[in-house]
Amino acid sequence: MSIQRPQGVQDFLPRQTAEWQYVENEIRALCQSCGYEEIRTPVFEATELFRRGVGATTDIVNKEMFTFEDKNGRSLTLRPEGTAAVARAYAENKLYGQTPPWKLYYIGPMFRYEKPQAGRFHQFHQFGVEALGTGDPLADAEIVWLAWTLGEKLGLRGLSLRLNSVGCPVCRRNYHAALTAFLQPRAPELCADCRVRLEKNPLRVLDCKKEPCQATTAAAPELPDYLCPDCREHFAAVRSYLAATDTPYQLDSRLVRGLDYYCKTAFEIIAPGLGAQNAICGGGRYDGLMEELGGPPTPGVGFALGLERLLGALAEQNVSLPLSGPPRYVLAALGAEARRRAVRLAAELRAAGFTVLMDLQGQSLKSQLKFADRKGAAFTFICGENELERGVVAARDMRTGEQREIPLPELARALKDLR
Ligand code: HAM
Repeated sequence: MSIQRPQGVQDFLPRQTAEWQYVENEIRALCQSCGYEEIRTPVFEATELFRRGVGATTDIVNKEMFTFEDKNGRSLTLRPEGTAAVARAYAENKLYGQTPPWKLYYIGPMFRYEKPQAGRFHQFHQFGVEALGTGDPLADAEIVWLAWTLGEKLGLRGLSLRLNSVGCPVCRRNYHAALTAFLQPRAPELCADCRVRLEKNPLRVLDCKKEPCQATTAAAPELPDYLCPDCREHFAAVRSYLAATDTPYQLDSRLVRGLDYYCKTAFEIIAPGLGAQNAICGGGRYDGLMEELGGPPTPGVGFALGLERLLGALAEQNVSLPLSGPPRYVLAALGAEARRRAVRLAAELRAAGFTVLMDLQGQSLKSQLKFADRKGAAFTFICGENELERGVVAARDMRTGEQREIPLPELARALKDLR
């Protein structure tokens, strides 16, 4: 087999998908407990949505999008994130006509053309949450609490929650001016990317992970010192609600996030042991996004959590998820007529809610028992022509090897007792 999967994407095999499903079930239960409902948006959107939503000066839009033309020459992009798409769906489906807030969540693949490395993929999966139509700081706190609680619920240790306020356009304008005045004379010390960022969006320079840039910006003015009274009050309220729910956070005045739509609250959750790609979750408030996309003014707040990184952190910490499924049963049929009767019996038992496997290779009884063993069956029901003639199956307990006959009409009831 010479064809291999493209760079930066992964196969998830059944052992892994069992873990994914477990995590997804926990996510759904947690979202439901807070009244978030699932939204599913397309995997690709008009390129313009991300250019305007995420921001033309961001790395995501400048370097990382999988963009292609359809047969009519329209520019489309595989979604690099979910927030802009949810905002588009909200406006397009006129959800604003109904009682706010809209509390939505999604789980699905996202695509970014970043250099593949541990924890960084071309196709990855996000669990995202968005609360639209509310500027209440309690919504910010609920969102942060939800992200934090998921990590705790799954048994992750050593997580840290970084929190900042990036202000509104008014206070950011003042901060931009101060930051630019600080950075301009130091421009030669910055990397080439940051020199461009300094011209286009100086805030982004604070986000650079390169050592010389971090050293240069260490003494830069701090954004929280430039917050207007409204943003200051909002931030204080978010913090007080987080304290009320015992959600531990660290203030991080350099946290600016890599997407343009943020205002006020910004946060990230960092997991230990994941190397450079240690942010498992990021989010914040984005009150101007909807208008930027041509929709009605609608405040919003949300986050997205990278599922590969979350599962990577669970593996790193040897957290064993309780994955046991329902018991499995194998019907071992011997002979052509017995197979026909057994396949009918399997259908009846499956309809009654049991997990029933059959040998699909016409093997000997010995091999079928081996098969049952490998599949972790609790019982094998041996359906030889002789047994079926007498209206029974031989039930073999796969742990003890004990065997007893069960009359066919009693089988479903007997299985309920075995459960
Ligand atoms: P983001 O910080 O760009 O935010 O991504 C959120 C999370 O997605 C990251 O913390 C990381 O776990 C995961 N992630 C990002 N890129 C990759 C990659 N190449 N490979 C693996 N995992 C990755 C957003 O996407 C915003 N839409 C979050 C948001 C929602 N803000 C408000 N609402």
